[in-house]
Amino acid sequence: MSDLHRRVEETQAILARIARDYSPAVFASSLAAEDMVLTDLILKARLPIGIFSLETGRLHAETLDMLNRVRDTYGYEIALFKPQPEAVEAYVAQNGLNAFYDSVEMRKECCRVRKVEPLSRALSGKQAWITGQRRAQSTTRAELAVQEDDAAHGMQKFNPLADWSEEDVWEYLRTQNVPYNALHDRGYPSIGCEPCTRAIQPGEDVRAGRWWWENPESKECGLHVVDGKLIRIKSVAA
Ligand code: ADX
Ligand code: SF4
Repeated sequence: MSDLHRRVEETQAILARIARDYSPAVFASSLAAEDMVLTDLILKARLPIGIFSLETGRLHAETLDMLNRVRDTYGYEIALFKPQPEAVEAYVAQNGLNAFYDSVEMRKECCRVRKVEPLSRALSGKQAWITGQRRAQSTTRAELAVQEDDAAHGMQKFNPLADWSEEDVWEYLRTQNVPYNALHDRGYPSIGCEPCTRAIQPGEDVRAGRWWWENPESKECGLHVVDGKLIRIKSVAA
């Protein structure tokens, strides 16, 4: 059995276990490559796991187009969670539309309004949530576990692709014919909001184009802060 085949089977088992033991569970999709792997696995297995995206109001047209492509390919409507209009208006009135370039604090406040607060609504009443994070993506994710105790949200958090390499992701997408964001073919390995993401040069770190004006240590948007103890479970029984 190839490495990828084994990884896919393990990931299918983790997803099935989440659906069975942690219902209701939801999957947070940024509509980028990793998240399309999980979307494909969840929808093909018809698992009762809802998929949502945080529609920040600052996403690329190519990212928004993925909503149509998922609908066309799988007949599935991804749920959208948007920021509270009053909170966005207050931020913009006070700081300006693009104040996130001014300081890490201003950037985190924009992410709080546009991503973190909507995330808490998306997770309300759930037992677990799932992300497409991988360990190899950044220094801040080097210790990432498959299952974490997310004390901040009072639930379990799963990162089923924690062990996957970037090559695994692309081999899966290619062999399974999964639609992917057109920006990936234009030098964007990692995709967030349009003003905070740029293309990278060959040889640069995969997240070099995210908040490129900040230090690598600060490059997290607040979606993935874990206060609780990390639980490491590499091999999970289905
Ligand atoms: S970020 O925290 O730096 O923005 P990244 O883009 O690497 O994260 O994505 C990591 C995971 O966070 C994704 O696999 C997805 O589970 C979740 N995520 C990030 N952005 C969004 C979004 N806009 N909507 C839903 N989930 C998201
Ligand atoms: Fe705001 Fe940029 Fe964060 Fe998007 S990534 S919420 S535009 S600071």
